[in-house]
Amino acid sequence: MEVINSVNELKAKINAFRKDNKKIGLVPTMGALHKGHASLVTRSVKENDVTVVSVFVNPTQFNDKNDLEKYPRTLEADCKLLESIGTTIVFAPTVEEIYPEPDTRSFSYAPTDSVMEGAFRPGHFNGVCQIVSKLFMFVEPDSAYFGEKDFQQIAVIKAMVNDYRSKNEEWAKRLTICPCPIVRENDGLALSSRNTLLAPNERTIAPYIFKALSASVEYSKTHTVEETKNMTINQINAIEGLEVQYYEIVNADTLQTVNSWEDAEHIQGCITVFCGATPIRLIDNINYK
Ligand code: PAF
Repeated sequence: MEVINSVNELKAKINAFRKDNKKIGLVPTMGALHKGHASLVTRSVKENDVTVVSVFVNPTQFNDKNDLEKYPRTLEADCKLLESIGTTIVFAPTVEEIYPEPDTRSFSYAPTDSVMEGAFRPGHFNGVCQIVSKLFMFVEPDSAYFGEKDFQQIAVIKAMVNDYRSKNEEWAKRLTICPCPIVRENDGLALSSRNTLLAPNERTIAPYIFKALSASVEYSKTHTVEETKNMTINQINAIEGLEVQYYEIVNADTLQTVNSWEDAEHIQGCITVFCGATPIRLIDNINYK
């Protein structure tokens, strides 16, 4: 496994792999890797000849400076894990390497990027599109792997790739976006790099988010969308230290709110909860149908 910091060096390696007709998988990450990331990398290693994992805490997607500063950084441990699962290249650039000058590109895929996280974290998805488009252009992967914990992020990235496809970008035409299932702790908490920031008492209450989501699936069988939404929010807010920022029950393809269970073929519940005094912002989602 090689650790590369420079874009030019990365591109040179990728060119050599392409000449050899190697199939390339990309796993974009912000580091502080856990078993959820490991599952993405393991899948990429299985499906490709070469797996590139980027480790880069992207400043342009943080709308809160404090959140950016607090974000855990554990490159040495990340590299050990990545080597053990067969990664070919770790791309770990500096901010200056990625943004030698400010990225002024603007991406807009409303309503996909304007609801939920888009509404509560202005500019977040613009920053995600800036970094992910750059990574796609550097690596030109055959497949790119993303965790379904960030359900909305996958929809936004798919919209961005479709946009580049419509502009006849060869890399976008070749690329397949591969969503991968959420990995959970035994108590149901969705794995997230942010979990390491939870104090012990916060870690104890955080699993109630998934407990309420799971209970809501059963509840939904005999109740309306609105009743299910309210029950879920109330159950979580009843736990001291948890506060729901939003819970939306949406068409899983368009991310538009549904009013009835018959409104869409696939329906997903997407939630963001503040946990503890700091607070730590936790996201999760669940499939209803
Ligand atoms: O999901 C993440 O960790 C980030 O948003 C991503 C896709 C690596 C872009 O920085």
